[in-house]
Amino acid sequence: MTTTARSAEHDVKDLGLAAAGRRRTEWAERSMPVLRQLRERFAAERPLAGRRLSACLHVTAETANLAVTLKAGGADVALCASNPLSTQDDVAAHLVKDHGLKVFAIKGEDHDSYYDHIRAALAHRPDITMDDGADLVGALHMIALNRLDDLAPPVRRWVERLAADDRQQLVAGVLGSTEETTTGVIRLRAMAKDGVLQFPVIAVNDSDTKHLFDNRYGTGQSTLDGILRATNLLIAGSTVVVAGYGWCGRGFALRARGAGANVIVTEIDPLKALEAQMDGYRVLPMADAAPLGDVFVTLTGNVHVIRLEHMRAMKEGAIIANSGHFNVEIDLEGLQRAGRGPVPARDFVDEWRLDGKSLYVLADGRLVNLAAAEGHPASVMDMSFANQALAAEYVVHQGRKLGREVHRIPRELDRDIARLKLQAMGVAIDTLTPEQQKYLASWDMGT
Ligand SMILES: NC(=O)c1ccc[n+]([C@@H]2O[C@H](COP(=O)([O-])OP(=O)(O)OC[C@H]3O[C@@H](n4cnc5c(N)ncnc54)[C@H](O)[C@@H]3O)[C@@H](O)[C@H]2O)c1
Repeated sequence: MTTTARSAEHDVKDLGLAAAGRRRTEWAERSMPVLRQLRERFAAERPLAGRRLSACLHVTAETANLAVTLKAGGADVALCASNPLSTQDDVAAHLVKDHGLKVFAIKGEDHDSYYDHIRAALAHRPDITMDDGADLVGALHMIALNRLDDLAPPVRRWVERLAADDRQQLVAGVLGSTEETTTGVIRLRAMAKDGVLQFPVIAVNDSDTKHLFDNRYGTGQSTLDGILRATNLLIAGSTVVVAGYGWCGRGFALRARGAGANVIVTEIDPLKALEAQMDGYRVLPMADAAPLGDVFVTLTGNVHVIRLEHMRAMKEGAIIANSGHFNVEIDLEGLQRAGRGPVPARDFVDEWRLDGKSLYVLADGRLVNLAAAEGHPASVMDMSFANQALAAEYVVHQGRKLGREVHRIPRELDRDIARLKLQAMGVAIDTLTPEQQKYLASWDMGT
């Protein structure tokens, strides 16, 4: 294997960073006991033997532990980033140098490099794809539907050079895919609804051991971490506006309150809004929250949740961040049109001038927890990535039997992950007595 940072087999920042990446990955591994157990079983049983797997995930130490697990299961793994800012360059180098994985990811890569790396993952000709935000599956579907104009130029140029039957084979060769996040699953459900989904997808986000923990506690903690690392702000006594009270929003609101913030929630769903109100937060429309907030964080998976009219109403010095999947939640184009900037104030903090005041946007409106901090703690990714590994195995086991729909992994596997995690944490729970089992199965006992 070549030792340059770029070859047909990999494109990373600097292979000289591998030792630091190995240390970081080993540190994460200590908190990933469920994945470790799976890795041991995978190494013995090799359920992914002979499979080519392309993953488009945040290239972090936790993902490295997943990638090594997939390799132990026999998969030939290619990995590209699911966000241009989330790659840990030392981890990428470690995976190439110490594990011989095909990694295509550099922190801060531009639009063309980002999509050239997606092209490289597609050129790996996967049997299984693994996405965080549906970028790989999205590209495969544009190819299947011959909508080449909707592909980013580096992917389109490559596809145009492929013969028609080769393009068809690229898509037909995919046995199934797995999807990590809410936004990706929403897109895949829309594809299934329109009848265009070309292969089955396992929605890892639908597992209880994923969204109940990763989205809530992982995003909650790491979003606060990203904001603190970027700004070094004192949260106590500040007003934090949380847009969206879904799994991620609930987690972040909880952590912001824990750090002493006065939390305001904005929502569009009456149930979620009611829950936020009863959880003790103030609930307001964004237009009313805008003049009150010191820090604004979007966690909705929706577009233009913070618009120019809101930014115009904000206080001098307001800080605006996003932790939803795509960088579309804050209307940065509107800010660009009406304001002046950006001028870097600190790493991951840009100052914008609007109507005579300064506003500060973190991490270009991209996932602040991954751009300005290290993403979720390993302990929570342990469960998310155990789901990913089991989902890949499930795709192979089920083969072509699964319909072209969005599935979830069987509930028993989801429970098994929870059981293993509890065991690893040293937490014991009760089991049903025979009497209790009978009672719960009956309709006439003990009434
Ligand atoms: N930062 C991370 O590491 C991370 C981790 C997991 C998920 N995500 C992403 O975060 C986003 C949210 O995920 P989730 O699991 O919480 O989804 P969710 O569906 O549970 O919650 C989203 C909430 O946003 C609300 N919402 C939608 N439009 C809104 C608007 N205009 N104003 C206010 N609220 C609005 C919805 O009603 C819903 O309650 C997704 O894009 C997801 O992919 C990010």
